[in-house]
Order: sequence, then structure tokens, then C-alpha cells
Amino acid sequence: MTPRSGDPLVERMRPYTSSIFAEMSARAVATGAINLGQGFPDTDGPAEVIEAAVDALRAGHNQYPPGAGIPELRAAVADHQRRHYGMDLDPADEVLITMGASEAIASAVLAMCGPGDEVLTFEPWFDLYAAAITLSGATRRCVPLRQPDWSFDPEELRRAVTPATRLLLLNSPHNPTGKVFRADELAMIAELCVERDLIAVTDEVYEHLTFDGRAHLPLATFPGMADRTLTVSSAGKTFSVTGWKVGWASGPVPLVRATRTVKQNLSYSGGTPFQHAVAAALALPDAVTAGLRESLQSKRDRLCAGLRSAGFQVIEPEGTYFVTVDVRSVGQDDGMQFCRDLPERAGVVAIPDSVFYDDAGAGRSLVRFACCKRDDVIDDAMGRLARAFPT
Ligand SMILES: Cc1ncc(COP(=O)(O)O)c(C=O)c1O
Repeated sequence: MTPRSGDPLVERMRPYTSSIFAEMSARAVATGAINLGQGFPDTDGPAEVIEAAVDALRAGHNQYPPGAGIPELRAAVADHQRRHYGMDLDPADEVLITMGASEAIASAVLAMCGPGDEVLTFEPWFDLYAAAITLSGATRRCVPLRQPDWSFDPEELRRAVTPATRLLLLNSPHNPTGKVFRADELAMIAELCVERDLIAVTDEVYEHLTFDGRAHLPLATFPGMADRTLTVSSAGKTFSVTGWKVGWASGPVPLVRATRTVKQNLSYSGGTPFQHAVAAALALPDAVTAGLRESLQSKRDRLCAGLRSAGFQVIEPEGTYFVTVDVRSVGQDDGMQFCRDLPERAGVVAIPDSVFYDDAGAGRSLVRFACCKRDDVIDDAMGRLARAFPT
């Protein structure tokens, strides 16, 4: 076989060719099913944020922004971190604007990990982590989050750190489980990072989407962590503008500089008008994010109630866009098959949690529904499920 006749994709990326999100979204279109699979809202973000983007386009902010992002947005991110979490960042060299949190995470992993290194994360994991770690040549090591409260065993986490562990990748609030890591859990993780000299990269894209009064606590604010944590977030989830892909990473200069070196050789920079709009969004009164959070919490409640009345056992999330059910409660045990059948059976699309696990058995019966949809869409979907699964 000549090099050009086989699959040109590098061997290590072959496990990542298919995307369950693409498959399920295509099935939603083909069957007319309601798509509660992929996590994006079906309404626009705040009108003033959209207007700020239009204004930026009209004001001629249409060329490359600086590689690290426009100064206004870097300052707005530093101010946001100070206002919400008391963190002290220099916007000049401790904040980096990226093409979504995705680019920040991938750049950080590619910048700081390579063959022979291990990256520690919790399972289930957001799919991008697995691919980014593989792309870097490093090895993924996972510690399970277990139901019913998605807790982890601190000893298991301790044991998972080896001399090769370079970086811990933490997502809180957590997709897909909806777990918001508690202060005692974060304190334990922080102690471990300090003790074993690990770098932490934290994915906090759902930082403002926590429910029932729970506070989001950045790992970087725990003792010893400010100097070893790259904190990542983005505007997509907070302001319901997932397609804008404006994200950021902040932290100590060496981590930001390393991440920036990879980032500037991937996209370099982009999204100038959206960077201006997100700077305006971050400067809005906190009541705006509080309003979005409350609205999402009521959607969470609506979706959970609908799923329960259709007979599903619901694992109620503490934050994020997602609600998990165990399909054993409706007499099935294979979430993948359940999701493949669901568009035809009920006219609804959901995502099997098994795609977020190395140990597919662990998440086999779990299925994720997105709650970030209009109330009438949620009601329609729940009516369909109730008819398809009469109790
Ligand atoms: C946990 C998590 N991290 C990162 C992202 C991607 O963020 P962005 O769209 O800003 O790249 C998502 C999107 O679904 C997510 O759920």
C-alpha cells in the first residue's frame, strides 16, 4: 500500500473519527426529532451583547486582533476574575484570548504534555480532552466519578498520580454529570497538585451555570494553586452564544506563555467583533448572569420533572446544561442503543454517556439530555417521551 492509498489520518487519531453529536444531530434532522443532544441554547443571548457585536462589526473591528486578544477583553477577563473570585491577574501577560475554551484546553495540553507524560482527569470526561491528550502523545489516566453524587475516592486519585503525571485536567461544573466540585474535594485536589508538583488546567465554561445557590469555586483560588493553574473559560455558555467561540485562559505567566505559543501557531487569533462584544458582556451587571442562571435552573427543573413523569430515574445536576437519566428505569440497559432508537421511537434525540468513558461499561445505562432549550420545546419533548414510555 502506498502512503496515499490508505487512510491518511494518523493512527493515533483514528479512534476519534466519528462524533456522536454529529450522528445524533443528523438523525434529529432526518427524523424531525427534537434535539436535546448537543448542548446549545435555542435562544439568543442578551440583546445588548448581540448589539455590541453588531456595533463592533459596523465600527470596523474586522481585522486580525492581537495574538493574545484585544486589550479590552483581556482587561474584562481580569476584572471578571477579580470581581467574582478575588483573583489578581495582569491582563498584559496573564490572560490569553482563544477560539473558545476548546482551543485554550487543546493548546495547553499540546504545549505542556508530550510522549511519556500522563494527564490525569476524571471519568466521564468531555470528549475533547481525550482527543487533545492523544494528539499530544501523552497518556490519559482517569479516576471515576461515581453515582449517586458523582463523588471520587481520594485514595484512588492519589494512587493515580505517578512520576509521569504532568498535568491534572479538571472540569467543574462538570459535563456530562452536572457535578459542581465541593470545597473539600477541591482542597484535596489542590493539596495533591502541590504535593506532587502537578500543573492544573481547569475547564470552567459552566462557571455561572450552577443551581440551588451552589457557588463555583475555581481551583486556582486554593492554597498553592495560583502559581500552577491555568484557568479556562469562555463566553459561549454564560451568555448563550456558543457559536461565537470566544474563550480565555488565565494564570501565571509561564503557563499562559506556553499555551500562547501553541495557540498562535494554530489559529493565531480571530473573532475580533465577537471579542469586543464579549468584553461588553463581561462588563454587564452581575444581575444579567444571575438571570440567565435562574432561567436555566427553571429549565433544569422542567426537564427533570418531565423525565420523571415519563418514568425515568433522573440524576439531578448541580449545574451545566445537562440532565442524566438511567435508562434501566425504563427497562433498558444500553444507553447507546436507546439513543439510536429514540428518534424513531419518541421523536427526541439524546446522547449516550458511554461516549464520555474509557470504561464503556461504567456509563452504559446513562443518557444525557440538554435542558438549555425553550420551555415549549422541553414540554413538547417530554410529551413525546411520556407517550413513547407509558408508565
Ligand atoms: C466541559 C466543556 N468544555 C469546553 C467546551 C467547549 O467550549 P467552547 O465552545 O468555548 O470551545 C464545552 C462545550 O460543550 C464543554 O461542555
